[in-house]
Formats: sequence, structure tokens, C-alpha cells
Amino acid sequence: AMKLLNVAGFFALVPTLVSALEPITTSLAFCGAAVMWQLFSPASWLKCRFLECCNMKDTLDIPALQMALEQKVFGQHLATQVVLKALSAHSRDKQPRKPLVMSFHGWTGTGKTFVSKIIARNLYQRHEARRRFVHQYDAVLHFPHAEHIKQYKKQLQNWIRGNVSICPRSLFIFSEMDQMPHGLIDSIMPYLSHREAINGVYYGKAIFLFLNNAGGDKIIEVALDHWRRQKGREEIPLTDLQSMLSAEIFNNRNSGFWKSKLIQNNLVDYFIPFLPLEYKHVKECIQEELRYQGHQEDEDLIIKIALAMSDYPSEDRIYSSKGCKTVASKVNLAT
Ligand SMILES: Nc1ncnc2c1ncn2[C@@H]1O[C@H](COP(=O)(O)OP(=O)(O)OP(=O)(O)O)[C@@H](O)[C@H]1O
Ligand SMILES: [Mg+2]
Repeated sequence: AMKLLNVAGFFALVPTLVSALEPITTSLAFCGAAVMWQLFSPASWLKCRFLECCNMKDTLDIPALQMALEQKVFGQHLATQVVLKALSAHSRDKQPRKPLVMSFHGWTGTGKTFVSKIIARNLYQRHEARRRFVHQYDAVLHFPHAEHIKQYKKQLQNWIRGNVSICPRSLFIFSEMDQMPHGLIDSIMPYLSHREAINGVYYGKAIFLFLNNAGGDKIIEVALDHWRRQKGREEIPLTDLQSMLSAEIFNNRNSGFWKSKLIQNNLVDYFIPFLPLEYKHVKECIQEELRYQGHQEDEDLIIKIALAMSDYPSEDRIYSSKGCKTVASKVNLAT
């Protein structure tokens, strides 16, 4: 009796099988499947063509980044060299063992935010992609109340987990680290460690940038000391500055990294010094701003504006106390 039922069932199915194998329907079904597969696989051609794609054969264009850094950033040969090396090594690696973590240090107006924007722009050329995959946290704006730290810790972990699971090559920029409530940044430690994946999310392709005024005074001391001994800015040794910075921010209560486990466990890959800017760099900034605003690049005007920014405070009056930060408004006033 069972056999008979099976046979009957088979014959009942025959018409459906025949229609399924009919050529037009079959090819339509195949096409549909192909499109679906393209749309749902993370780095497919179709998806990257029509929707935004976060990591189609790793989007970072190293030569373009190098050109932007060399042409647009003045007086920061140390910072730009390290940033470039770090990013090219990390993007070459198909399966990095941990996310890339860089900590920028320096006085106000020396180019920390500026360089982070150049990185974002070269990592994601299209505005829409930048909007979706570059994430900025401003300590003052996002974490204003030290007493809410428990809630901030949870939020921060959720943000990072959520964003990395959408796009492994996410860029996280933490600005004003010196204003960060004590202990908050340690909450992201699991994501910065050497691991395969956490609950199915792989963090190795993410990039973290920390922008910090802490350490700026120490960098100026070193630079000034060099200048007094009549050594060139180019001779300032990077390794000394880097180890000085890691010690300094670990011991500084107002660095966002005071006694931080991220430092203790060596999870910050690069400490990057931004040197104080000299008169000649400020002049370059002014020239660039004039060009940007469409004015004549008149040398007398440039000197006039540079001197009007009379904020070179150190005893030897060689460094601009606001870097290039007020250049745009000074140019507006003078033109
Ligand atoms: N090294 C530099 N080369 C060229 N332009 C610069 C440089 N530093 C600063 N600028 C100009 O000054 C503006 C302000 O600099 P930026 O915001 O990057 O400073 P910052 O280091 O982030 O300061 P803060 O610590 O106050 O946040 C930039 O948008 C840029 O136009
Ligand atoms: Mg800044």
C-alpha cells in the first residue's frame, strides 16, 4: 500500500516538475538567484555598483593618500610618515590580527582633525560611504557627564559592535580625548585586542583614531630643545617622542588614557606626534587659504596676516600658539 501511494505521489508531481524545467521560467529563476546572491554577499560587484559598499577590494588608495598628505599638511613630516606607513601596512594585510589604532597628539591647530579628515576622505571617496562608515565621537558632545559613564560604556560598545558588523572596514574617530571621562575608553578594549572574532563579528579591519591635546606640551619642549641646540626640525627623533607620549598620557589625568588598560596592554599601535607650527608653516596655511577662497596669493598680504596672528608665545617666539586654527578667519578679515 505504501509503495502505491508513493507512485501516485510521483505522478501527481510530474506536471509541476515539467513546468519548472520550462526554459524561460528556469532562466528567470537563475537570474533572480544570481541577483539575490550578488545583493546579499558582502563585497559583490552589483552591490558596490548600486548600493554603498564598505570594503570592495579595500578602498584605500595609498598613492592618493600620500599625495594629499604631502601636499596639504605642513610641518608634520613625522605624523604624515607614520600615518602613511601604518595605513598601507594595515590595508595590505588581508586578515589583520587586530584593528589599527593610532593616537594623535599635539597642540591645538596643528592638524590632527585635518589629517583625520584626509584619511576618511581617502578611505571612502564617496560622500554617502563616508556618512555610513566613518564614525565620529566627540568627548564633549557625546560623553559630557562623567556620572553617566556606565550608560556611555554600554552605548559605546553597542555602537562599535553594530557598525563593525555592518562594515568591517569602519573608521572610528574619537576627538577631544583629553575631555573623555576617566575609564570610559577602556570599555572598548575587547574590540582592540588580538582576536579572531567576537560573537561572529571580526574587528581586525576597523581603524581607530584618537585625537588628543595631551602630550602637546611635552612635544613642544622637545621641539624647542632641538631648536635651541640649532638642530633641524627634521632631526627630531620619532621613537623618543613616541615612548615619551605613551608614558605621558598614561600618567596624565587629563588625557583620556590615565592608567588605561589600552596603554598597559599595548593596544595602541602608534603614538603620533604633531609638532608645533612655526611662522613659515602658518604662512603656508595662509597661502593655501587665500587660494581656497579665490584671492591673489600676494606675499605682502601673507606676511601681514601672519604677523597679525601675533600669537607666538614661547620665550623664543617661534611657535604659533593656535597653530593654523584661526587662519581662515584672519584671511576673511584681511581680504
Ligand atoms: N599642519 C597643517 N597643515 C595644513 N593646514 C593645517 C595644519 N594644521 C592645521 N591646519 C589648518 O587649520 C585648521 C584647524 O586645524 P585642526 O582642526 O586640524 O587642528 P587640531 O589639531 O585638530 O586642533 P584641536 O586640538 O584644537 O582640535 C585645519 O582645518 C587646517 O585648515
Ligand atoms: Mg581637532
